[in-house]
Amino acid sequence: MVLHPVQLRPARVSDASRIAQLSRRLIEQGLPWRWRPQRVARLLAAPDHLSVVAHTTDGEIVGFAIMQIIEQRADLLLCAVSPAQRRRGIGRRLLGWLERCAITAGTSSIRLEVRKKNREAQSFYRHMGYSVVDRTPYYYSGREMALKMIRRLPGPNNDQWSAARRLIAQAIDEAVNKPPR
Ligand SMILES: CC(C)(COP(=O)(O)OP(=O)(O)OC[C@H]1O[C@@H](n2cnc3c(N)ncnc32)[C@H](O)[C@@H]1OP(=O)(O)O)[C@@H](O)C(=O)NCCC(=O)NCCS
Repeated sequence: MVLHPVQLRPARVSDASRIAQLSRRLIEQGLPWRWRPQRVARLLAAPDHLSVVAHTTDGEIVGFAIMQIIEQRADLLLCAVSPAQRRRGIGRRLLGWLERCAITAGTSSIRLEVRKKNREAQSFYRHMGYSVVDRTPYYYSGREMALKMIRRLPGPNNDQWSAARRLIAQAIDEAVNKPPR
């Protein structure tokens, strides 16, 4: 199989349907579908949420991540990469993008919940510097245990500031130039 280059860009409200479908298939399998297009669209438009997608040169979305900033803390809500594109560093780039924005926003930690049986995602998050701090039985639809994982963020240094400033400028440009819905 030929793997094409993948680029990142801020998510748009018009991506909501594709993100919701990917979430249902890749994250919520076996659970009720909670991240439906309308809900995802609301988050993509909300000023306290950061979101990013990975897309191929022909525009197909193959990964995404959404984070909510709550003052000093951020919650990673969703993160997934299409199976055919995994282990190419796309998850690392998506999460790294959000982490740099969170650092610029003055966030000191990021937390997330992951299904206990999802060993692959736990390995990924551990690789990204997250540690398990708690367990919540029956968290998912009263059925499955969640592990809570946290990463403490470093303060911004000069390199991170310039990288984050570039990303924010790109996000603002995207928001200003996007066609009216
Ligand atoms: C978790 C997920 C986002 C990782 O995406 P990815 O693009 O494959 O991750 P990367 O290629 O950036 O991996 C970075 C590192 O994480 C670790 N890692 C990633 N996937 C792993 C796996 N299946 N098993 C063990 N370690 C893994 C590795 O250390 C990897 O580095 P390496 O490939 O050099 O060994 C992807 O597997 C996924 O979409 N899973 C289904 C959805 C999901 O569970 N999301 C999280 C819950 S919201």
